[in-house]
Amino acid sequence: MDRGSESPLLDGGRSTRTKAVSWLRLSAALLVLTSIVVPAALWANRSHGALPGDGDGAGPCHCKASDMGDPPPGCITRSENSTYDGNPLVERFRRYLRIRTDHPEPNYCCAVAYLRGIAEDIGGLETMEVSYGKSTYKPFLIVTWRGTDPGLPSILLNSHTDVVQADPSNWRHDPFCAFMEENGDIFARGAQDCKDSGMHYLEAIRELKRKSFVPVRTIHVVYTPDEEIAGEEGFESFVASEQFRGMNVGVAIDEGGATPGDSFRVFRGEKAAWWLTITAFGKSCHGSVMLQNGAIENLIKSMNSIMAYRQTLLDLVAAGVDDSSVASISPTYLSAGVTTATGYVSNIQPEQASAGFDIRISPLAPEEGSDILNLIKTEWAPKERNMSYEFLQFGETEVVTVVDDSNPWWSLLKNAILESGHMLQEPLLASATSDSRNLRLRNISAFNFAAVSNTIDRVHGVDEYLNAGIYLAGVPVFENIIKAFSSFS
Ligand SMILES: *[C@@H]1O[C@H](CO)[C@@H](O)[C@H](O)[C@H]1NC(C)=O
Ligand SMILES: *[C@@H]1O[C@H](CO)[C@@H](O)[C@H](O)[C@H]1NC(C)=O
Ligand SMILES: *[C@@H]1O[C@H](CO)[C@@H](O)[C@H](O)[C@H]1NC(C)=O
Repeated sequence: MDRGSESPLLDGGRSTRTKAVSWLRLSAALLVLTSIVVPAALWANRSHGALPGDGDGAGPCHCKASDMGDPPPGCITRSENSTYDGNPLVERFRRYLRIRTDHPEPNYCCAVAYLRGIAEDIGGLETMEVSYGKSTYKPFLIVTWRGTDPGLPSILLNSHTDVVQADPSNWRHDPFCAFMEENGDIFARGAQDCKDSGMHYLEAIRELKRKSFVPVRTIHVVYTPDEEIAGEEGFESFVASEQFRGMNVGVAIDEGGATPGDSFRVFRGEKAAWWLTITAFGKSCHGSVMLQNGAIENLIKSMNSIMAYRQTLLDLVAAGVDDSSVASISPTYLSAGVTTATGYVSNIQPEQASAGFDIRISPLAPEEGSDILNLIKTEWAPKERNMSYEFLQFGETEVVTVVDDSNPWWSLLKNAILESGHMLQEPLLASATSDSRNLRLRNISAFNFAAVSNTIDRVHGVDEYLNAGIYLAGVPVFENIIKAFSSFS
């Protein structure tokens, strides 16, 4: 039987075994193909009988060729005389950066069309699309390099295709031009978060294939939508699907972060995010009355108690406890008062006052989570004080990926990075969340890693950038990692 057709990847999705074509010919073909809207009939089979969220979604996907990474009109793309001018890897990266996958309307179709084109150009890879969008088609692209022993758990290389907004007026260069300065610094939204990872995976695979490397384990490169909006229609749906179960993932690499120093960082877990709102209710009355137990007074009692608890956490960190093993709690908003068209009124006491908090629970100290839940009920928002609370988000406290000799994936990763001539810091817990949370909750070893050192972290910030030389140096690091993971048996 053809390996491809045994694959659970083939159920309900598009799969193609590709052969190598030259990049030029491919680009020309894409230009022709994608300037035509994909006929709806092509999608009819795919959605036939499928329920939304069942690994299929509402097609069709449109991508105009000009939206696949060409510089937009008026876009200046480079200073003169950069060492990296014309480097094909750098050019492919910059094209991906120019594809407008910024929220609130990320162009997933063009990102996926572009990446599929690259996979087809590399050759010998299978590609397929799935979507879990309920009303919008939100394609994932899965690029598969089949190993010689497809029965073994596979390697997952994940990255998200969406990026956060960028207001061009604050940037040194247009965030969607991928301008390259003379020293090779490329400025673009997504340069660090995380189109660098997305392209590193494919460039490493291109190199390994060129060197005739043959993987034992199957490698799946997954391009995910909606990570930046913590989307249910993104990775969370994907890991709950039959599709994902069929992939039998043994270990995963996901987006990491830039580090300003020489030595790389690996994250093995993250704090769970709880977004808490507490609200106090009281009688509304005239400002001249010394009301007891009014809404604002009761909220202040809670605030005092919360800030006292917060101080105990700060004290722990000040005493030298690693802050990745301590919870954090930060006040994020206050809301109270009676307003008119001209602003707050000073002589009415409001019926209601609320406050918001961002709480992060370390997986290394889950007991702090239990303490906090208890405190919310007894001191921070007790019913007896006419208070209520609500979680806008309540992340499960995840399992952390084990980083000692009992986890062979850790040893393989560490050695692959060190053997590529780089240094590595002790594994960390991330303060922000990523898609790999969903993998760790399923006890799959997951490492957040970006091969980006000597770079100022500007994730979600102004002037997000990556130097072309740093980017190019990351490719062999991923070659080593993919080689090590996919050869392990
Ligand atoms: C780029 O190089 C050319 C040829 O060497 C030179 O004439 C030009 O002045 C250089 N441009 C800049 C901005 O340095
Ligand atoms: C709770 O609300 C009731 C009704 O308005 C009021 O009588 C009581 O004093 C309030 N209790 C506290 C502790 O705020
Ligand atoms: C993951 O491992 C933990 C600890 O061994 C176990 O309690 C939990 O049920 C496992 N979860 C899954 C989804 O397998």
